[in-house]
Amino acid sequence: MPSDASDDDILRGLNMLIAGNYDLVPYDEPASPGLDPEHVFALAARYGQARDARNIDILDLGCGTGAQLERAAGLTTGKIVGTDLSQSAYVKAVARTARFGSRCRFMCADFLDLDADTLGKFDLIYHVGVLYVTPPPVQRHLLRLIAGCLKPGGLAVISYYAGTVPLLMAGLHKVLRAGADNAESPAEQVRTARAQIRVIANTIARQAGDHRLMSGVLQQVSGTQDTVFFHEMLNQSFGTLSTSALELALGAHGVHFLNWMQPAPFEADASAKARAMMADAYSFAGGGYFYGVFQKDP
Ligand SMILES: C[S@@+](CC[C@H](N)C(=O)[O-])C[C@H]1O[C@@H](n2cnc3c(N)ncnc32)[C@H](O)[C@@H]1O
Repeated sequence: MPSDASDDDILRGLNMLIAGNYDLVPYDEPASPGLDPEHVFALAARYGQARDARNIDILDLGCGTGAQLERAAGLTTGKIVGTDLSQSAYVKAVARTARFGSRCRFMCADFLDLDADTLGKFDLIYHVGVLYVTPPPVQRHLLRLIAGCLKPGGLAVISYYAGTVPLLMAGLHKVLRAGADNAESPAEQVRTARAQIRVIANTIARQAGDHRLMSGVLQQVSGTQDTVFFHEMLNQSFGTLSTSALELALGAHGVHFLNWMQPAPFEADASAKARAMMADAYSFAGGGYFYGVFQKDP
């Protein structure tokens, strides 16, 4: 029977492996202008008072190479903090924000070693492309951390896969991962997995029945660019989340779902729980990748 200490070691080893993969195959995507503070605050203004989006403090949990923070730093005047376990991502994030001076601070650390008292309080937290590539105990820690680091009325942008198609994607990833050989280079592993997708597509095409949904999933995963394919397909923690589950977990800490950035199809006057359930109903028809905005109670 493993002790708690060895369970912790295993979890930290897994985290190192996941973050180490971002050193092996760097992920360096440009910032999303759609996530600029003014847009996030504009969404929140539909649920309360409009706020100044310039003089704010921003935290990015899993900032990667810091592209979003670099953009946000140019649009705001408050403190900027980024954290990531990937050493190469950390070095790049520090370099690209150096011109902002001591306003920007970065930490190269496992999320498990971060606590809200040390990090401080923020008006806006970015948590983009991260939650669904971390193991469940890390996810629980991250949600507590987000809640603990938000100022009253503060906002968190959390991205995640939700709905039926991503669920099937996660199942496909599992199959592909089982056939992957860790001794191979990332490029070879991606090639092998793509070949296996073609085998699956040809096999189901010969079977009776309606395979449109699965064919769509296969097509979507095939169309994913190599870097994302590598990190998502080979990550044993990859999974989907439901908006209601996030609302439940964060709600326990006084943080509630406002809406998705794009699309934002839910009635402005419904409760957070009702909006989250509507989001899940919406994503059940197919689903996809969403940027959820959550707000800490004032
Ligand atoms: C897909 S990248 C997203 C980076 C950035 N947010 C972006 O959107 O470009 C996921 C990031 O999570 C980081 N990460 C994964 N597990 C972590 C952990 N346990 N502690 C800290 N960072 C972690 C990885 O190193 C990687 O940089």
